[in-house]
Amino acid sequence: MWGGRFAEGPAAVMREINASIPFDKRLWRQDVDGSLAHVAMLGKQGIVTPEDAAAITEGLHRVAADYEANGVAEDLTLEDIHMQTEAKLAELIGPVAGRLHTARSRNDQVATDFRLWVRDAIDQTLAALGGLRAALLVRAEEHAASVMPGFTHLQSAQPVTLGHHLMAYHEMIVRDASRFADARARMNRCPLGAAALAGTGFPIDRHATAAALGFDGPTANSLDSVSDRDFAIDYLQAATNCSLHLSRLAEEFVLWASQPFGFVALSDQWSTGSSIMPQKRNPDAAELVRGHAGRIMGCMTALMVTMKGLPLAYSKDMQDDKPPVFEAHDLLALSIAAMTGMVESATFRTDRMRGVAEAGFSTATDLADWLVRVAGLPFREAHHVTGRAVKLAEDKGLKLDALALADLQAIDARIDAGVYEVLSVDASVASRTSFGGTAPANVRAAIAAARVEPR
Ligand code: ARG
Repeated sequence: MWGGRFAEGPAAVMREINASIPFDKRLWRQDVDGSLAHVAMLGKQGIVTPEDAAAITEGLHRVAADYEANGVAEDLTLEDIHMQTEAKLAELIGPVAGRLHTARSRNDQVATDFRLWVRDAIDQTLAALGGLRAALLVRAEEHAASVMPGFTHLQSAQPVTLGHHLMAYHEMIVRDASRFADARARMNRCPLGAAALAGTGFPIDRHATAAALGFDGPTANSLDSVSDRDFAIDYLQAATNCSLHLSRLAEEFVLWASQPFGFVALSDQWSTGSSIMPQKRNPDAAELVRGHAGRIMGCMTALMVTMKGLPLAYSKDMQDDKPPVFEAHDLLALSIAAMTGMVESATFRTDRMRGVAEAGFSTATDLADWLVRVAGLPFREAHHVTGRAVKLAEDKGLKLDALALADLQAIDARIDAGVYEVLSVDASVASRTSFGGTAPANVRAAIAAARVEPR
């Protein structure tokens, strides 16, 4: 395609290091779509004749059908998907194929193809996140009033509900979806027509090609158009945040599925056995979601480091933009699907969660609050009195609400029998009615709001 000024062909290793076809063949559909929009515009603008435009259009459809049926050949001599498509087109329609590349460079072509691909990837990711959100809402609703220990420092802190805990992840996923949507809105400008870097003297209509490809309009600066990979970085950053959230949920599942916790039993479909220890049910999928997050972050870092030192405009380093994006997308798609399956099918051991919540003096704050509200103590003093009650319960091996009234009154005479109403974990969660709090009524309201207004 560019051999005119060369006497010798490239070295074999040159060919190999230069070729992107092994991975950029994933862009074939976007490449054909971009070319279809381009040739339609060339025809309309009178840059190629209507007959040539029609022949090229028909040929491109045949190329697409061939790719669809047979896949894309990995011919390293053809370097990349753009050359491959043009060569295939020439094979099918002859020399008129050579008119397609008028007023275009592979630099604006690849920028366009890749944007189209990332845009599709975002749409797929948003749909998958919708599925995960739906699964979280179903399970949260089921467990809106199921008590579990809430932790700080991984120490029992205050009782919460499992529904509230799951809705915390729902919040994260909603933010993740909004980051993907932001990235999509920002990237939706078309670089086609920037040509190699400077624009072109042909009377092209960039607004027409942008509209034909579903973009909001053309990009404004030809140098930026071929040099910008922000859209891919935005995508990878959104993917990184999302994978980070999935990883935290995965970590909780790993922890909860362990024998000392025993908070969750993953279904058979989402567990694996051991080849030596017959009793094992391992949470491999959750561990891999946690592991994949590291790889996705690596993909983001890879592209940012690739881009950070590049002068304007296009440099071949930028060909390395695609593998990390493809890899991150594949890993994230798997992670979201696996997490959705685990959430949908997990058995939550609510009896065990309740038992741990009750055992950990997790209503100590409720006792202190009661001393403030009913007995009129300053909070600092109430904190101290409660600390003594906890110490006593610990020494006696009792839960807080099993301490005798006389024992509590020996610590502070202002305590009366009314205190027992706040010492149960159910009373504790029911009392947390401040906006965003864990009371079952709040959790149900949050679920209802999430269903009405997906945000
Ligand atoms: N395969 C190249 C890429 O992915 C296409 C652009 C090539 N442009 C060039 N001037 N060599 O970046």
